[in-house]
Amino acid sequence: MRAAVIDRFGGPDEFRIVDDAPAPSAGAGEVVVRVSAAGVNPLDYKIRDGSSGMASRLRDEDFPLILGRECSGVITEVGEGVTDLAVGDRVFGMAPLDNKGQCYAELTALPADALARSPEGVEDTTLGGLSLVGLTAWVAVHDLAEVTGDDIVLVHGGGGGVGHLAVQLAAATGAQVYATASARNAERITAAGATHVDYGQEDFAQVTPRPTVIIDCVYFGTYEPSLDHLAEGGRLVLLPSLADLGPAKERGIEASIPTIAPDRERLDALASRVADGSLTLTVADALPLSEVARAHQILEDGHAPGKIVLAVAGE
Ligand SMILES: NC(=O)c1ccc[n+]([C@@H]2O[C@H](COP(=O)([O-])OP(=O)(O)OC[C@H]3O[C@@H](n4cnc5c(N)ncnc54)[C@H](OP(=O)(O)O)[C@@H]3O)[C@@H](O)[C@H]2O)c1
Repeated sequence: MRAAVIDRFGGPDEFRIVDDAPAPSAGAGEVVVRVSAAGVNPLDYKIRDGSSGMASRLRDEDFPLILGRECSGVITEVGEGVTDLAVGDRVFGMAPLDNKGQCYAELTALPADALARSPEGVEDTTLGGLSLVGLTAWVAVHDLAEVTGDDIVLVHGGGGGVGHLAVQLAAATGAQVYATASARNAERITAAGATHVDYGQEDFAQVTPRPTVIIDCVYFGTYEPSLDHLAEGGRLVLLPSLADLGPAKERGIEASIPTIAPDRERLDALASRVADGSLTLTVADALPLSEVARAHQILEDGHAPGKIVLAVAGE
């Protein structure tokens, strides 16, 4: 099958496209999906360059390695014990953390319970990039920060993959939401019901009230000043998995990092909001699989205005 592979950890140039990668088969509890679109996430480039904790668990025999933790597509094979999904179903979802996640490919095998049916009327390009950022934003806003209509929420990186969904989920609770982002993201943030703070022009600590919740999707350069700005008793959610909670804890601040596990109920909840228009996933760019290196470069540059997706089918 066609796939994007790397032979070793390194830069985006490590990718090569092959047409003879071994096709997966569905193990017990799994299905094989013919991938239509695969989402690109910072975790992917952190595995690609070897800096993620998940990279350290990989062995020589895992190479050539296929990356990609989420996708949308159509089921082509159903493994033993799978009774609630069938061949031909349109699905989307993401690999759990203990699964290699090999979605930059024509076919991928994923646990059936990490997938949900794709709603009518929502494009595969959107659904291919929804799961990881959607579940992360959900855990950050609802499970960890427990945002309510009484909160003042500040989201750092409100134009990015996780950030733009966190802004919308927080605003939907009735909370007062502020989001830092560059000027080009201003319109989307305002449309989501939040107040845009242009971090290039303004100091968020000067122009926003002291927030009861900060969701920090940036971390570098935003973490320390956020500790000073957070209201007494406020909650802080830091996105990068390797973020250092120490400085927050030393000051008695309740701080946490999301850990996500795909579950169908939440995927359904996210997809139905996208289908009814109450949640918008902005696809900043949908590139063909052959341009996977460029997709990684755009994301790694750190200013993608939304989600980067690989359109795998139809190349
Ligand atoms: N813990 C977890 O389970 C989990 C899950 C998903 C992601 N993550 C982590 O969360 C982080 C964000 O992921 P993502 O997918 O949202 O990345 P992303 O799509 O690359 O978004 C990052 C955003 O930050 C903005 N930005 C850059 N510098 C900024 C600054 N100084 N102030 C405010 N905004 C700034 C960028 O846009 P502009 O500068 O143009 O506004 C960009 O839109 C990554 O570190 C990722 O690894 C963790």
